[in-house]
Amino acid sequence: MLFAGGWGSGKTWWLIAEALRLTVDNPGRAGVLVSPTFPLQRRTLYRAIVDIFPEAKRWPTGAASARDCLGPLVKDWSASDRVLTMWNGAEWVFGSADNVSSLEGASYAWGCLDEPRLVRAEAWRIFNARIRDPKSKQLRRALAGVPSLGWMWDEFGKPHPKRTVIRASTTDNSAPPAWVHRAPQPQRPTDPRLHPRRVRCARSQLVRDRP
Ligand SMILES: Nc1ncnc2c1ncn2[C@@H]1O[C@H](COP(=O)(O)OP(=O)(O)OP(=O)(O)O)[C@@H](O)[C@H]1O
Ligand SMILES: [Mg+2]
Repeated sequence: MLFAGGWGSGKTWWLIAEALRLTVDNPGRAGVLVSPTFPLQRRTLYRAIVDIFPEAKRWPTGAASARDCLGPLVKDWSASDRVLTMWNGAEWVFGSADNVSSLEGASYAWGCLDEPRLVRAEAWRIFNARIRDPKSKQLRRALAGVPSLGWMWDEFGKPHPKRTVIRASTTDNSAPPAWVHRAPQPQRPTDPRLHPRRVRCARSQLVRDRP
């Protein structure tokens, strides 16, 4: 499933909500959350988790208790393994697409991938192959990003019975980031980064749908 959204349309928040839904469906099983790089992950996924989890205050560091920092949804955090243990024994394993060894070897019940356009096809292939836990309720891959060509087009560009695409514009977000309102007026109606629903991916170009 791909959430194809404009900048600031709520993609990363949707991805964390999706991870929570998959955690409820798969108690005791492990899922993987992947970003293009670990530094980007700290700025995006970690930040969204602190914003979304009830009673969360900050990301746990040092000897701080994960539950005190991230609230009652979390039991434990291993910084060395980058694994959050959730209230129901499910694990959130954090991976980076530019460090494929962080994706190799394991089996996951589900996977979430943020900013897929910044991820190479090889990392997408490995991510995809690792979601194979036979005890998974549904081997869901959830992706959240601005649509682009390359492997994203191959996977989601054409209708497919096993693919779902949700499209959203930046302005669909009821709480869009402040810069959207500062964007120059003429740019707003056409910018594909703000309005991906008006954009169709063609093999060689990005084109706007006719009104
Ligand atoms: N469901 C929601 N309810 C309330 N606020 C939301 C919701 N989704 C997103 N937001 C607000 O919108 C902001 C942007 O959301 P988010 O970071 O998920 O967007 P994004 O599409 O991932 O952005 P980017 O293009 O920068 O990656 C959040 O910081 C949050 O304040
Ligand atoms: Mg985001």
